[in-house]
Amino acid sequence: MELSQDQVDQFDRDGYLIFPDLFEPAEVEILRREVARVSAVDAECIFREGESGAAKSMFRLHEPDGPTASASFRACSRTSRILRTAQQCLHDDDLYMHHCKVNMKAAIEGTAWPWHQDYGSWHLDGIERPDMATVTVLLSDANPFNGCLFVVPGSHVVGRSDPYWDDSTAYKLWAVKPKDMQAFLRDHPEPVPIEGKAGTVAIFHCNILHASGHNLSREDRWQAYFCFNRCANRPKDVEDPRPDYVRSRNWAAMAVEAEDGVLETT
Ligand code: SIN
Ligand code: MN
Repeated sequence: MELSQDQVDQFDRDGYLIFPDLFEPAEVEILRREVARVSAVDAECIFREGESGAAKSMFRLHEPDGPTASASFRACSRTSRILRTAQQCLHDDDLYMHHCKVNMKAAIEGTAWPWHQDYGSWHLDGIERPDMATVTVLLSDANPFNGCLFVVPGSHVVGRSDPYWDDSTAYKLWAVKPKDMQAFLRDHPEPVPIEGKAGTVAIFHCNILHASGHNLSREDRWQAYFCFNRCANRPKDVEDPRPDYVRSRNWAAMAVEAEDGVLETT
């Protein structure tokens, strides 16, 4: 897959793009089977929540080793639909994956993600420039009722807002201060839902303001995230670095591989 110059310009301007139905049902089915399998594993890189201990976030499915390794997610991350899209939007062919995760947002119990910028955390990983983007794949149909992601168009240009430490859910993160967020919402267009059928893909800039609400529905909302950085922008040494599953030290440039790679993993 190759984006048009208009699409790349739109990403530069709005900070996100949505591609409906990019992965076919057979691919989504394989990835969903993998999510179910990996979520049963007991691993440090799986964060759980609620009475049931349902997985909220599972990391590092894209590497060939480790307890959460999945050949299907690895193949998915190397399709042109994922990797080439990130290369074009980041204006660089040499990218590595800072991390990969699946957020499962369990039915009823699945909690919100507060308004935040990903670079709020990634900057503290020692990454000097906000030259990063995330490609997300909907693995369930997503809509505001089941807690789909929202992005604030064009907000990536505000730069990194001084964050606060949000520890209100099972996955703690640096979030945008509510007072600052109110001002951003006043000064920007209405947030846009990243909604659609399973198989829909979106890419968003690491400084875009984004959040999602509770899952009020009776079905889990599963969604994969592949977070890319330019190899030239790899993290500097920091004191007490976060674990490899969230701040990867595999800085080798990734290559686009087979487009039917996910199907080949069955
Ligand atoms: C995120 O921003 O990292 C995840 C948000 C979501 O899964 O809704
Ligand atoms: Mn985020």
